[in-house]
Amino acid sequence: MSATIRAMIQENVVSKDDLIYPLFVKPGQGEKERIATLPGVYRHTEDGILDEIGEAIGYGIRAFMLFPAVPEMQKDKYASYSFHPENFYLKVAAKIKEQFPDTCLISDVAMDPYSTDGHDGIVENGIILNDESLEILGKMALAQAQAGFDVIGPSDMMDGRVLHIRKVLDQHNFKTTGIMAYTAKYASAFYGPFRDALDSTPKWGDKKSYQMNPANRREAIIEAELDIEEGADYIMVKPALHYLDIIRDLRNNFQLPVVSYHVSGEYSMLMAAAEKGYVDLDLALHETLLAMKRAGSDLIITYFAKKYAKDLS
Ligand code: PBG
Repeated sequence: MSATIRAMIQENVVSKDDLIYPLFVKPGQGEKERIATLPGVYRHTEDGILDEIGEAIGYGIRAFMLFPAVPEMQKDKYASYSFHPENFYLKVAAKIKEQFPDTCLISDVAMDPYSTDGHDGIVENGIILNDESLEILGKMALAQAQAGFDVIGPSDMMDGRVLHIRKVLDQHNFKTTGIMAYTAKYASAFYGPFRDALDSTPKWGDKKSYQMNPANRREAIIEAELDIEEGADYIMVKPALHYLDIIRDLRNNFQLPVVSYHVSGEYSMLMAAAEKGYVDLDLALHETLLAMKRAGSDLIITYFAKKYAKDLS
């Protein structure tokens, strides 16, 4: 079969518009900072992040997901810095939207980057307080909408958070601000490098009481039904590569856009193998993104977004 015919009958293509580029930002100006376990990904400064986004836009990336690397001194038990008016993350978001109004800017709602406990909700006596956490998550989401984020991304996995955030946004007239729900977020070993990036590793225990058991498949359908009922605009599967069956399940059962999060550990595995010469990075990356697309992803969040778009250009 000729290359032309192969191209004609190819079923899936990963386009630049399918990709969302996750970025880490820290307070201050100047040099970006390397992250040892996430080679090629950086903690950008408040000015540097504008350059990084500008460059990615130049290659055709238009959607960005922003995560804050919060200094230890700003953290507390209640993540109160997350909605503080002086929060650098909110200010950076406003600047990004001012300079690049056509981008789709997606936030992260969870307490862990701001929490001295490193958990996504309030912890008391070793237990996560779900309903009390919702209040904080609602304030955080509202502050982000006010800062100009187009889409709010609750990654915390508290029960009822999509409904609560939707209500808070609507009450304050942010009716067009979307919600990208981390729907099937598994308690995964592949988040390690991300937690290094934000210095957000839980101080004790793990996240198994609020993140999903990797052994469960049907539960993802239940989570999706709940998120959709509560008002989600996008449903997400995370991690992506190890959960292709879940992506396909959501694609087959629901009509909302399905987003896959190609997480930090999945990124670093590929980088490490390529560095050792075990695989060809370009070929392996192409095949990896294609696998997520073929499984049913409409959108893919990947630290490779800029590289992939650059290679296509
Ligand atoms: C936490 C959060 C995590 C990621 C995104 N949001 C880590 C965790 O749940 O501990 C992981 C993303 C990645 O590994 O790339 N709210």
